[in-house]
Amino acid sequence: MSGDARKTAEGLEYLSGFGNEHASEAVPGALPEGRNSPQRAPLGLYAEQLSGTAFTEPRAHNRRSWLYRVRPSAAHPAFTRADNGTLRTAPFTETVPDPNRLRWNPLPEPPAGTDFLAGLWTLGGNGDAAQRAGMAVHLYHATSSMERVFSDADGELLIVPERGGLLLRTEFGLLHAEPGEVALVPRGVRFRVELLDATARGYVCENYGAPFRLPDLGPIGANGLANPRDFRAPVAAYEDVEGPVEVVNKFCGNLWTATYDHSPLDVVAWHGNHTPYVYDLRRFNVIGSISYDHPDPSIFTVLTSPSDTPGLAGVDFVVFAPRWLVGEDTFRPPYFHRNVMSEYMGLIEGAYDAKTAGEGGFVPGGGSLHTMMSAHGPDRETFDRASAAELAPQKVDDGLAFMFETRWPILTTAQAAGADHLQQGYDEVWSGLQRHFGPLR
Ligand SMILES: [Fe+2]
Repeated sequence: MSGDARKTAEGLEYLSGFGNEHASEAVPGALPEGRNSPQRAPLGLYAEQLSGTAFTEPRAHNRRSWLYRVRPSAAHPAFTRADNGTLRTAPFTETVPDPNRLRWNPLPEPPAGTDFLAGLWTLGGNGDAAQRAGMAVHLYHATSSMERVFSDADGELLIVPERGGLLLRTEFGLLHAEPGEVALVPRGVRFRVELLDATARGYVCENYGAPFRLPDLGPIGANGLANPRDFRAPVAAYEDVEGPVEVVNKFCGNLWTATYDHSPLDVVAWHGNHTPYVYDLRRFNVIGSISYDHPDPSIFTVLTSPSDTPGLAGVDFVVFAPRWLVGEDTFRPPYFHRNVMSEYMGLIEGAYDAKTAGEGGFVPGGGSLHTMMSAHGPDRETFDRASAAELAPQKVDDGLAFMFETRWPILTTAQAAGADHLQQGYDEVWSGLQRHFGPLR
């Protein structure tokens, strides 16, 4: 065990910090000293590097880890094609790009025996997985734990549980993610999702682009937003399984399967700065206005996947966490706007302060899509209420919403465009906004 490991409330050990150089060994002496790849690795293990960035990317953004494992990853039979189920991948060309504002209810309950992978259902996305650009929005609803192992060569997975806790058994060790927390699994890392409750559902951002990193803070200073120390990396833990294990690999949009003769979750020790993480969104340090107006929602960015253009993200992960609103002479809910970026919003719990809650509204497990330049903002009830509200300090603490915000339009899949749980008449939430204009007399 690594000397600086801490424990979660459930007693699961973890390493604190995002992007740090961590080291962990499940068996004492498994990590080599002073060499990444010694002539003979300790304890008869194989040394293997996992790259998260090109070898030559700048040091500040370079990601890689060294894994010391029972067998090298190369020891596997050929993969054969498997059914993609309800999983889809960019480029998304199934439907005519739709400029309309769209909103969905939660996914329906899947059949018994649906694991996390089979329960993934793609709503849409953009870019091209093979070009390592863009993102996909998936939802999941699972009713059983995975027995097979999954890895995604197309992108990293940001898993946002909305209902039901998850235990992620990864090559790097175990992570526990409850609703209100998010789990980040790097591209290509093998993992299995086990359910801690009868069912589990939530959201996934599959990021084809540059790995998520913490945003720069600029004038905010050295602290704030998501603090690095609150990210939990696992400590090394391995499976010593000699026997058939199904491993599913997502590559350029298709699932491929192979039956290994051992578990690939056999990493006994590792070191590096490229690991899975869990982050508790309630730890987010919310920064906002203490005078008037409110900052753009980019102030709520937890993680960002930058593009080649400074400030223009391939995708940002943004959280609307509990916070105080104190702005004077200010319309406090999110303002009306048209955004050059595209926004998919989900709700983890409670209600969102720009939308009326309840059935047929914006509900936990549901989601809304406001793609590039679509006009949106508070609904009629929210506008009327907020325009007349007495502006005492107000705590917004009855909900936890998030947004995947991306530079390209989000194009829907055919199953999302034709889903029974796609709400009809979403435009009507803005239809009753009254004309108040009148010339001064
Ligand atoms: Fe928006």
